[in-house]
Amino acid sequence: MRKEVLLIKLLQAILVIALQCNTLSAQKSEALTFHKDIAPIIHQNCTPCHQPGKAGPFNLITYHDVSNKADFIVYVTKTRYMPPWQADPSYQTYLNERLLTSEEIATIQTWVTQGKKEGDKKDAQSIDVPTGPYPERKPDLSFAMRSPFMISDAGKDDYRFFNIPTHLAEDTYLEAIEFVPGNKRLVHHSRIMTDTSHMVRHIEGLSANDSTIWQFNKYPPLDRFLYGWVPGNFPIFFPKGTGKKINKDVDLILNIHYAPSSVKEEDLSVINLYLAQGKIEKEVKTITITEEYILNNRFLIPKNTKPYFEAVYLLDTTIEVIAVMPHMHYLGSSFKAYAITPEKTEIPLIRINKWDFNWQTSYQFKELVQIPKGSIIKVEASYDNTAGNPANPTFPPRDVQYGWNTTSEMMNLVLYYIEK
Ligand code: HEC
Repeated sequence: MRKEVLLIKLLQAILVIALQCNTLSAQKSEALTFHKDIAPIIHQNCTPCHQPGKAGPFNLITYHDVSNKADFIVYVTKTRYMPPWQADPSYQTYLNERLLTSEEIATIQTWVTQGKKEGDKKDAQSIDVPTGPYPERKPDLSFAMRSPFMISDAGKDDYRFFNIPTHLAEDTYLEAIEFVPGNKRLVHHSRIMTDTSHMVRHIEGLSANDSTIWQFNKYPPLDRFLYGWVPGNFPIFFPKGTGKKINKDVDLILNIHYAPSSVKEEDLSVINLYLAQGKIEKEVKTITITEEYILNNRFLIPKNTKPYFEAVYLLDTTIEVIAVMPHMHYLGSSFKAYAITPEKTEIPLIRINKWDFNWQTSYQFKELVQIPKGSIIKVEASYDNTAGNPANPTFPPRDVQYGWNTTSEMMNLVLYYIEK
């Protein structure tokens, strides 16, 4: 009796497997189509940048956009050059992660091999073009540079400072900060700081190499790192009930790096502010772990060396980390940051195994990362100042030290956090 039941169960199981195989092979034999299989992958992972007004150099929205570039897309996805994502997913994962699964990469490849079928438009899901991992919202306040800046045709990297008064009537909490480059081709990256001294309102387009820069340096910014932007970076949206405070009548200080150009072109960049909604229970604060926290060595990078630095920051209160942003220049080769609790547990923050200056971003955690009081935050970074580093901006290599411009070096980790 029991044997018979078993036998029936076994037969049932075989039948189920056989049926599954059948439907699987039926699915397989049907060619993949753009609207059913490819558009969801592209719209989710590529279109946020590859649409008008965003960082990507061309659109990837419609069947024609994608099929025209299909071979190129197979190549950049297989090599994982696109979507750009530097953080090692085996170490930590993030809300704004942009990564394709191996299956998605294979699906794109199969679709191209099968002849790039468009399929039925009826299969197309929502035609909404996503703009990023966050809800779509209009900014509450927009501040443009006071006047267009004429970018030089001298063919050199150019670092400029701009002051933008906000005339805000009261202290204000922000949910997000966004930078919109005016000249998409030449704005290489930017950093937004704040000032309440009002003593540096004259710095309209001041060059980092200007002889009067010391007057500007006399008034250190209130916030050295309100926000940093590189092409493709999305704003960080701070969690509900929190906000980044900016003071009433604050001035925004914009530091823009313009790429070398052989023709004069204008730039009129814009800073968008999104006000926090609802009651603010916690203020978003930042810690910037800089070169000053390096313990193992002086921050010098002699030519033809590959030095390694370790910075240590002691936490005297319990914090919950919203996002981190690592920063180095062209000689950076790897970057790792983590916390070690008093119980010697390691809390991973970020690991980048192959640093790329061009793809820096803020990494926002899926859930706040709690680091208890008494922990240390450790930053480990290595640099490659040899001729074998293709990103090395100087050939032959020369001795490099700390500095703002890209032929100098930096080692920073910015943490956006709230106190527990
Ligand atoms: C974070 C923004 C961003 C995302 C997301 C993104 N791209 Fe890009 N993409 C860019 C930018 C900026 C460039 C131009 C710079 C470059 O070529 O390195 C680019 C360049 C490219 C190029 C040309 C590469 C070359 O060498 O000229 C291709 C092809 C491409 N992207 C395809 C894709 C595909 C496919 C996806 C999704 C799987 C994707 N991109 C996702 C920003 C993005």
